[in-house]
Amino acid sequence: MKIAVIGTGYVGLVTGVALSEIGHHVTCIDVDPSKVETLSKGIPTIYEPGLEELMKKNMAAGRLAFTATHSEGLAEAAVVYIAVGTPKRADGSANLDYVEAAAKDIAHNITQNVIVVIKSTVPVGTNFHILNVINANVQPGIQVKIASNPEFLREGSAVNDTFHGDRIVIGAEDEATADTLAEINAPFDMPILKTDISSAEMIKYASNAFLATKISFINEIANICESLGANVEEVAKGMGFDHRIGPDFLKAGIGYGGSCFPKDTNALVQLAGNNHHDFNLLKSVIEVNNNQQVLLVDKILSRFGNLEGKRVAVLGLAFKPHTDDLRESPALVMIPKLAELGADIIAYDPIAIDNAKRQIKEEIEYTEQLPTALQNADFAVVITDWPDVKNIDLSEYNQLMNDPIVFDGRNCYSLDAVKQATIEYYSIGRPDQTSELIS
Ligand code: UDX
Repeated sequence: MKIAVIGTGYVGLVTGVALSEIGHHVTCIDVDPSKVETLSKGIPTIYEPGLEELMKKNMAAGRLAFTATHSEGLAEAAVVYIAVGTPKRADGSANLDYVEAAAKDIAHNITQNVIVVIKSTVPVGTNFHILNVINANVQPGIQVKIASNPEFLREGSAVNDTFHGDRIVIGAEDEATADTLAEINAPFDMPILKTDISSAEMIKYASNAFLATKISFINEIANICESLGANVEEVAKGMGFDHRIGPDFLKAGIGYGGSCFPKDTNALVQLAGNNHHDFNLLKSVIEVNNNQQVLLVDKILSRFGNLEGKRVAVLGLAFKPHTDDLRESPALVMIPKLAELGADIIAYDPIAIDNAKRQIKEEIEYTEQLPTALQNADFAVVITDWPDVKNIDLSEYNQLMNDPIVFDGRNCYSLDAVKQATIEYYSIGRPDQTSELIS
């Protein structure tokens, strides 16, 4: 099948590469010619494990190409995926400008009947709106069908998730369209749910909102555990055995970030509000997360009183490991707070520093070497559970830092290990290992 994919961000690029890998002929279209130039050389514009190899392989096999010219990319395509961004507007709603622009580009350039598949996360009702936009602009006589096919990829494991995900959701108005998309996706070997368009759109928002709710729930439990002397990891383990709850997404920490949860929870609150539903539960989930992202600052302040002249090693900048993405990362709120309090900051991250420099305005030092960050630091704050932070020999904190004091936003270490290493340790939802305890 000849397929076009509009947008070469995380979703578009991974989708295009994966569709070519299962045998389709895919052309990815992007309005940014410099991106297209890089991609055409077989160089991915995002960091995603496994992507480059698959890209190169399928480009060499003649199944994958990139272009900035819509007429070229859309020529003969039977199916066109829209996978452009839907960023958060100031009021929390999803900005559909890019999706509308892609719809017009399709309408102005298509010369054959086509199925347009919306992969971007869009508010319920958008598919029909986009179909109207296309029909208002397309040449008479060309038949356009619309379908919703939301993605559930996690950054850092997007390639793996595309081939081994939990389900594929196809929302279509008629059986023939749903069948065509099911056929395209059949080689992915996952359960396929065919449903109506509005439900497909809602499945994406509801899934992300539910996962965010699990995280905020366990974070609230963690904060209560701290007051009661319980250990949230034990609590989560005990809860997770119940198959109705499940063990996943119950890891307490410094809060969720990334391109999806913050944006989609806000958009769903907005969508509900527009339809006269006050989604109080989800509003609380968002509020808990906003507080959670800066909770460690209170702990740091109650330990030190004042951060003037203190050297702090911020360990990790990305919103989670194995990505260079900082969107909505707790680092983006923690670093300005620590800087405002007078701390002298050195930030460690193995791959996200270039992105960080574009987003962090404060004058801080950066390093890709973990020991360099720890050298002579007065305390360390773990933001991202990168493997080398998790697997560090804890004696390095003793050896390298002025004082081995660690505020861990990701619960990287067992309390036993910490006790043995005699570091002063504050984590999330677990009893602190303070100097008094150690001595
Ligand atoms: C998420 C969804 O998982 C994916 O299905 C959707 O399509 C896009 O959004 P992603 O944002 O890439 O994917 O990352 P994910 O691994 O889900 O983590 C999101 C955030 O939640 C991270 O900041 C992570 O640190 C945090 N998290 C996750 C927790 O704090 N605790 C957990 O138990 C799980």
